[in-house]
Amino acid sequence: MKTRAVLNRNFIVSDIDERLYGSFIEHLGRAVYGGVYEPAHPRADAEGFREDVLELVRELKVPVVRYPGGNFVSAYRWEDTVGPRENRPVRLDPAWKSTEPNEFGLNEFSSWAKKAGSGVMMAVNLGTRGIQEACDLLEYCNHPSGSYWSDLRHSHGYPEPHNIRLWCLGNELDGWWQVGHKTAVEYGRLANETAKALKLFDPGLELVVCGSSGSGMPTFPQWELEVLEECYDNVDYISLHMYLNNKENDTAGFLASTVAMDSFIETVIHTCDYVKAKKRSRKTINLSFDEWNVWYHSNESDNQIYKNTPWQVGPSLLEDVYNLEDALVVGLMLNSLIRHADRVKIACLAQLVNVIAPVMTRTGGPAWRQTIFYPFFYVSNYARGAALNVRVDSPAYEHPTYGQVPWLDASAVYNGEKGTVALFLVNRSLDENIELNLVLEGFEDYRLAMHKMMAGNDLKAANTEDHPEKVVPAEGTGLKCSKGVLEGSVLPASWNFVLLTQG
Ligand code: AHR
Repeated sequence: MKTRAVLNRNFIVSDIDERLYGSFIEHLGRAVYGGVYEPAHPRADAEGFREDVLELVRELKVPVVRYPGGNFVSAYRWEDTVGPRENRPVRLDPAWKSTEPNEFGLNEFSSWAKKAGSGVMMAVNLGTRGIQEACDLLEYCNHPSGSYWSDLRHSHGYPEPHNIRLWCLGNELDGWWQVGHKTAVEYGRLANETAKALKLFDPGLELVVCGSSGSGMPTFPQWELEVLEECYDNVDYISLHMYLNNKENDTAGFLASTVAMDSFIETVIHTCDYVKAKKRSRKTINLSFDEWNVWYHSNESDNQIYKNTPWQVGPSLLEDVYNLEDALVVGLMLNSLIRHADRVKIACLAQLVNVIAPVMTRTGGPAWRQTIFYPFFYVSNYARGAALNVRVDSPAYEHPTYGQVPWLDASAVYNGEKGTVALFLVNRSLDENIELNLVLEGFEDYRLAMHKMMAGNDLKAANTEDHPEKVVPAEGTGLKCSKGVLEGSVLPASWNFVLLTQG
């Protein structure tokens, strides 16, 4: 099937905020205990952090990590997590029916994030708690010294403020499952008053208000509208969450489902701008897509754990083992984020280690890369710069749920300093090559420097502890670039990274 496309150096969508390639660590399952923190592990460092995990996280170049939840944050008592370990209480976490020993807390996370080369995106509890606890937490984290909470931090051995600039005002409070679920107006009022109070301490903070927990929620997008009407002037971003799945074992539908991500983003942009117009405001609210991924493989096993063995420390929850088709979908989701880089400024692959994650470990054993590690790795490492609008004239197929779905999905990022164009291409067809003709206007002197590809006949192939490299990117074939045209075959059911360099 033939597909023509045009890329023009001047069709700039926006500079990409590097926080588009963020991720997420929640106190959930083995993300922390047996994941980032395992003092008895042979590769643990002096603070009990797994060096093998840190090495893989550093490969991903994650600029910001959201913490500590997620659903967990809605009953979070941050004070339990600081100070001498022997005084920290063991608590039951209602969100995940687990026991939280509080051996690893806020200060340890801040220190881990530094070692990972990441910044922190901290969430406050607006489920069971409110304005005061959020202010106390901010003072503990960011105030230099000379106040109760900042001096307490000093006494805990952390004289330097953590200086956390980005804060989430709770998590998914539209969801009935959330501890402390609220109506839009209740939440919007609380978020507004919390935002005002936090900004009294520091007007330079960036605050993320909760949008809907998914575009399928019956209250979407009314929730966004009502929440923003309450807090528009005091927040900076609104959150979006989306998890895709192939529960129906319909791979064509699974690959098509990312068009729902494009329309989710566009609906939220329209809703923000409607409130902006209604308020006669000059301020624009941007988007924080702070949870996105594929999630479904572990659902059944999780239900068994909640039913049969609840209240464990670090249970094996949400341990999706990702296959090749999941990697294609993660590649498609990354394309959607890049295409919307003018309004989506922050995004977090949910999550980072063990829990629906690119990095898996065995407690006491090795760490390895899941299939979804790779598209994230190439995007995070090479797609820094300005997102370009790729005009793709692709044939499309009709899907009963998603409508017209183009066979070829693409995104492009230009880095003027390095003289590179990073292209990300997915062929959604399960059996046909795409014969691509991509005209590169303004890049006539660029040549093909790298082509990596994830493709193969077995879309269900996955990496495991015994076969950690069963699915890895191969050297791409079939594309050539000359005199400002990239052309050739894009294989069926494939994700492709093409790097063009000047000269
Ligand atoms: O990432 C797993 C969970 O998904 C998060 O805790 C919650 O916010 C979402 O529903």
